[in-house]
Amino acid sequence: MNESQSHVVVLIGSPKGVEKSSSAKLARAITNGLESAKWACEWFHTHRVLQSQEDWEAMVVSMSRADVILLAAPLYVDGLPAPVIETLHRLLDARNMIVSEEDPPRMLSLLNCGFVEAEQNHTAQMMVRIFSDDMGFQWSGGISLGAGGTMTKRIRAALEMVSEALRDDVLIPDAVAITTTAPIMRPWLYVLGGNFMWRRRAKANGVRDQLKAQPYKRV
Ligand SMILES: Cc1cc2nc3c(=O)[nH]c(=O)nc-3n(C[C@H](O)[C@H](O)[C@H](O)COP(=O)(O)O)c2cc1C
Repeated sequence: MNESQSHVVVLIGSPKGVEKSSSAKLARAITNGLESAKWACEWFHTHRVLQSQEDWEAMVVSMSRADVILLAAPLYVDGLPAPVIETLHRLLDARNMIVSEEDPPRMLSLLNCGFVEAEQNHTAQMMVRIFSDDMGFQWSGGISLGAGGTMTKRIRAALEMVSEALRDDVLIPDAVAITTTAPIMRPWLYVLGGNFMWRRRAKANGVRDQLKAQPYKRV
């Protein structure tokens, strides 16, 4: 990376990591457009930086040079996964090493959840927004996706719009939120598909007749 190059830091907050998670796949749809404009992209896995002092320090140095910080994470129990929360707390403690008052980086979050409604991510988005404000970053916005972050054509097009807005240093267009929050299918159809999937998996595991089991129910 050279000094004149724009620089994005991507924090992946899924235990599935940088290779296999929906969070990473979605983030890549944004960084591809930045890389083709010669941005430097550095990726870190929140679960990993908590385990290694060396990785932690590399992330802090990288963030201190960043123009943009992108947090991509799944929704866990209506919030952020615990290692993501811990990473954000520790970053707040390291704030002085990361943020310069004259030129703070922009921050955006990209959250995806299992339910079909993207609005499920609202509380977690607020958590990231508060973190960004406390760090003194410039808030660029929160992008929420439902249905496990399924990458449809229109979601890809919306993420490419995000990439363009970051490159041009302009606000993320409202069309992005309109596109990403529109459910990819009717909720009843999603539930039907989900039930079908559970039945198929239960059958494959020989527990087809136990789907309604309540092992912890008091008798
Ligand atoms: C422990 C756990 C808790 C979850 N909690 C929620 C939840 O509260 N709401 C929801 O819509 N999806 C929930 N999910 C589903 C994940 O958000 C969803 O599978 C997501 O696509 C995973 O993204 P990733 O591949 O980036 O990890 C949960 C998944 C797990 C494993």
